Amino acid sequence: MDLSVFIPFKRNRKKHWNRVYEKNLPNEVGWYQDYPKMSMKLIAATGVGAAASIIDIGGGASKLPGILLDQGYKRLTVLDISGKSIERSKIQLAEDSNRITWIEADVTKYGFKEKYDVWHDRAVFHFLTAVEDRKGYINSLNQALKLNGHLIIGTFGPDAPPKCSGLSVVRYEPETLHNELGNNFNLAETFFEDHVTPSGVRQKFIFCRFIKRT
Ligand SMILES: C[S@@+](CC[C@H](N)C(=O)[O-])C[C@H]1O[C@@H](n2cnc3c(N)ncnc32)[C@H](O)[C@@H]1O
Repeated sequence: MDLSVFIPFKRNRKKHWNRVYEKNLPNEVGWYQDYPKMSMKLIAATGVGAAASIIDIGGGASKLPGILLDQGYKRLTVLDISGKSIERSKIQLAEDSNRITWIEADVTKYGFKEKYDVWHDRAVFHFLTAVEDRKGYINSLNQALKLNGHLIIGTFGPDAPPKCSGLSVVRYEPETLHNELGNNFNLAETFFEDHVTPSGVRQKFIFCRFIKRT
C-alpha cells in the first residue's frame, strides 16, 4: 500500500515533481516551450549585461538556461526542488551543464548565500497555495535578489485553469501579484501570454517584471 497519500502534500512536493520528470520527457510536460519567448523578452528588458547573475527558480527542464548561455550570459543558476528535473536538464545541456550552478532545494525554505541581479520564475509561485509557503518564497526572494535587481515572474492569470500538473494553483492579476510580493517591489511592466500545451490546451499566463527598490 502506498502510504504517501497520507503524508501532507508539502512533504510530498519533491516526490510529486520527481515523478513528473521520471514519467515525462521534457517536451511532454504541459508547460513545455520550444522557445521561452516572454522570459527572453523580459530578461532583455532588464538591460543587464552578460556578467549579471541570473537565477531561474523552479527551472525544471526548460530550455531557458541553454538559450541564455548561447546568448553569452555567464553567471547562471538553476534551482529546483526536483533532482530528476535537474538530471534531465543536465542531459539536454551535455557539457554546457558544467557552466551552470545547480541547486536542488525548496525555494520556500532555502538559505541563499549568493545575491542575484535577476530572479526568474515561470510557473512556480502560483503553486504556493498556503500563506506560509508564499511567505517563505518572498523571504527567499528578498534575501537573494539585489537592491535594484529584477524579478521576472510568470503565473497563471485570472482566466487560466484552476490546476496545473494535477495541483491547485493561485491565479493572479498583476495587481494581486504585486500586493502579495510587497511594496518594496515596483511593477515595471506586465504582459499577458497564451501558452498552448503540447496537447493543445490554452493557458492564460501573466508575466510581470518588478524592480526591488528597498
Ligand atoms: C510547471 S514547472 C515549470 C518549469 C519551468 N520553470 C518552465 O517554465 O519550464 C514547475 C517547476 O517548479 C519546480 N518546483 C515546484 N515547487 C517548487 C519549490 N517549492 N521549490 C523549487 N522548485 C519547485 C518543479 O519541480 C518544476 O520543475
